[in-house]
Amino acid sequence: MAQEKVDPSGPDLSQGVELADLADGRLVGHVGDEEVLLVRSGHEWFAVGAHCTHYHGPLAEGIVTGETVRCPWHHACFDLRSGEAVRAPALSPVECWKVEQDAGRIVVREKRKQPKPRAAKTTNGVGRIVIVGGGAAGFAAAEMLRRRGFAGSLAMLSDDGAPPVDRPNLSKDYLAGNAPEDWVPLKPDSFYAENNIELQLNANVTGIDVKNREVKIAGGKSLAYDRLLIATGAEPVRLSFPGADHPHVHTLRSLADCRTIIAGAKNARRALVIGASFIGLETAAALRARDIEVHVVAPEARPMERVLGPQMGDFVRSIHEEHGVVFHLQDTVTAIDGRRAMLKSGGAVDAELVVMGVGVRPRLALAEQAGLSIDRGVAVDAFLQTSVRGIYAAGDIARWPDPHSGERIRVEHWVVAECQGQTAAANMLGSEERFDAVPFFWSQHYDVPINYIGHAAQWDEITVDGDIKSKDCLLRYKRNGRVLAVASIFRDVENLQAELAMERELV
Ligand SMILES: Cc1cc2nc3c(=O)[nH]c(=O)nc-3n(C[C@H](O)[C@H](O)[C@H](O)COP(=O)(O)OP(=O)(O)OC[C@H]3O[C@@H](n4cnc5c(N)ncnc54)[C@H](O)[C@@H]3O)c2cc1C
Ligand code: FES
Repeated sequence: MAQEKVDPSGPDLSQGVELADLADGRLVGHVGDEEVLLVRSGHEWFAVGAHCTHYHGPLAEGIVTGETVRCPWHHACFDLRSGEAVRAPALSPVECWKVEQDAGRIVVREKRKQPKPRAAKTTNGVGRIVIVGGGAAGFAAAEMLRRRGFAGSLAMLSDDGAPPVDRPNLSKDYLAGNAPEDWVPLKPDSFYAENNIELQLNANVTGIDVKNREVKIAGGKSLAYDRLLIATGAEPVRLSFPGADHPHVHTLRSLADCRTIIAGAKNARRALVIGASFIGLETAAALRARDIEVHVVAPEARPMERVLGPQMGDFVRSIHEEHGVVFHLQDTVTAIDGRRAMLKSGGAVDAELVVMGVGVRPRLALAEQAGLSIDRGVAVDAFLQTSVRGIYAAGDIARWPDPHSGERIRVEHWVVAECQGQTAAANMLGSEERFDAVPFFWSQHYDVPINYIGHAAQWDEITVDGDIKSKDCLLRYKRNGRVLAVASIFRDVENLQAELAMERELV
């Protein structure tokens, strides 16, 4: 991530700080060689690690609400008392230190023990949980089940060959060649054995026997469950023009896809990206970082206009053009012949590498076969349970009743998928937690992060605070005067405040 880190030099908090120097209610200092955030919530002071365990975001620049702190970058939330990562995308706790108040001074003492898995209050008679899918939702569910003290058998079946990975990185730093290999797995391989999670890779689940509560795995095996989570995600759409199946034409979803594109990029002078939405344009930026000439072909007049509106669309186009990307908008590829892509407009682009980023389709085959209620996705209730008791769905496949928009929505956002996995985990153990998180996503283009909170399928007005061109702005998407969503660039605190305001509308 190309955002600034907090200044590592600061006072030695173990020596104490005068209360008078803490007028802001927060201060970053250090204890030994570790950066520590000293922060007030109500009348109490807390000391926690200064950086988010997701991508190292500066927690001092986030917001404190109740006894939690939210990260400014992607809205992870940490409990100030225990350090627990109570909301994705962070999945590991921050460190916590004891704090003492002594004659007008605050002193940070020794570290507190990391939170241990809680004993599950109830497992509701559940002994065996099966998760189909080793992506954002599936992984977050498995991790949360163990964090909540679920001690029964837990299997995660994935038809991917790789353990769960940080998928957003595959179109950003990793594809650009700026991320080391160890950034990619969500957890080290040892995590699964240590947490007694039976991770089966290359395990294609081909059916669900709802009556006998079993999943069928290709090859003939089956696995019984008491609770089942379906988190099969989505697959990239592949256009079907002549030549679309050439070996240098790729889509991007898995780590294997990403590695294939990286291998292709090594010998490519020019790349063609088909599609000007999130995956397409992040891919374009990553390939530019590899010094490859990039052409983008897309049918729309402005990139990302459908989601972000015309102003942000024009801006996104301009930053890509500043980095040398050539757009062919209101155009499509009609055929690929050898290295030459023919365009509907009559032009042509010669490219050694082609990446299609033209949207995804939720992977619904299993849910359909099992007879679950389908509504342009798997229909789930507020607790993420499907139409069959004991079977839950989360992530890109789930259409849920979103209390903020009042609509049943399905989105394709990393943090939503993880948070849904976490809620489904709690509910599989007998909790009755509604999924009411405000949808959030981010996208990164070169050094420009765009953060988006809420859900606005349609709007009648966009107001712009600040200046988009100066990369300092906050856009409000409104319908009938009500703010449905907010998109911002380098206005992280305001984006977090918008999230809080949307949460409070429900109370
Ligand atoms: C390259 C890329 C970059 C992205 N960047 C961002 C971003 O910056 N911000 C953002 O908000 N979102 C981003 N997204 C979207 C985000 O990754 C998805 O919304 C999220 O991964 C959805 O999680 P999921 O668990 O529903 O599905 P996935 O993460 O796709 O996981 C689905 C899993 O199910 C498995 N599976 C499917 N069918 C079967 C079967 N029959 N048997 C066994 N296993 C099966 C798959 O192999 C996979 O392991 C990005 C997506 C991609 C591809
Ligand atoms: S860096 Fe904190 S949520 Fe991503």
